[in-house]
Amino acid sequence: MVYPLLGLIALFTAGKCSSVPFKVQTTPEQDYFEADKEVKVPVVLGVMSACPDAILCESVFDHVLQQVGEKVDLSLTFLGTLNSSDPDFGITCMHGPNECAGNVQELCAVKYTPRDVWWRFVQCQNFQGRYEVGKPETALKCADAVEIDWPNSDVGQCAGVDASGKGKEGLSLLRESVQVTKSLGIEKSCTILINGNAVCVRDGSWKDCEGGHTPADFVRQINEEYAKLNGDSVQASV
Ligand SMILES: *[C@@H]1O[C@H](CO)[C@@H](O)[C@H](O)[C@H]1NC(C)=O
Repeated sequence: MVYPLLGLIALFTAGKCSSVPFKVQTTPEQDYFEADKEVKVPVVLGVMSACPDAILCESVFDHVLQQVGEKVDLSLTFLGTLNSSDPDFGITCMHGPNECAGNVQELCAVKYTPRDVWWRFVQCQNFQGRYEVGKPETALKCADAVEIDWPNSDVGQCAGVDASGKGKEGLSLLRESVQVTKSLGIEKSCTILINGNAVCVRDGSWKDCEGGHTPADFVRQINEEYAKLNGDSVQASV
């Protein structure tokens, strides 16, 4: 039986958002040769919606995006454990079912709204505090704040018109996301990938952040990757 063992592991790791050793990722292949087209820098945040480390990371990245948002292709990928015994999500989220719901709400917002909208939606959830993230009333309030017409939009259809996070599409987005996270080797929330490289982890404190962990450090690293990805075809506007 594997579940009791996993439960035991979960018991010992409950104090942090995760506990598995950090692994450096290799850079995925990029197209360096499309000279006429700007290539944005892929930035991936490995997160859990109700994790304090993720909330902190996302507030740091709010400052980063204000400076180099135009150069970045941002995405969120969520950590969780596939669990066929979980009746609602089929996933166990470390900070409870509300977190699974929050993950689904955010994934649906990401899929169906432009970045400036979904990013403000995520920031709004975070601003309510970690114990509020994922509650239907929080999602609806934040949808209002960023002008997502929840019940009549694709976001609401995806995540559930009642904002429960149990919409069919949203549930499959969550399962997909958890598997992608795993395949990327992300084991801690928050893990920051810039152009395929894990450059920093926030896990109670900052860890494995060779290039630094302030907004200015991430801005610098993004500018460096942007220059690499775009070669001489685009003026490096650092
Ligand atoms: C799987 O889900 C069930 C029901 O929610 C829960 O009791 C159990 O602890 C979960 N298992 C793991 C490994 O998280």
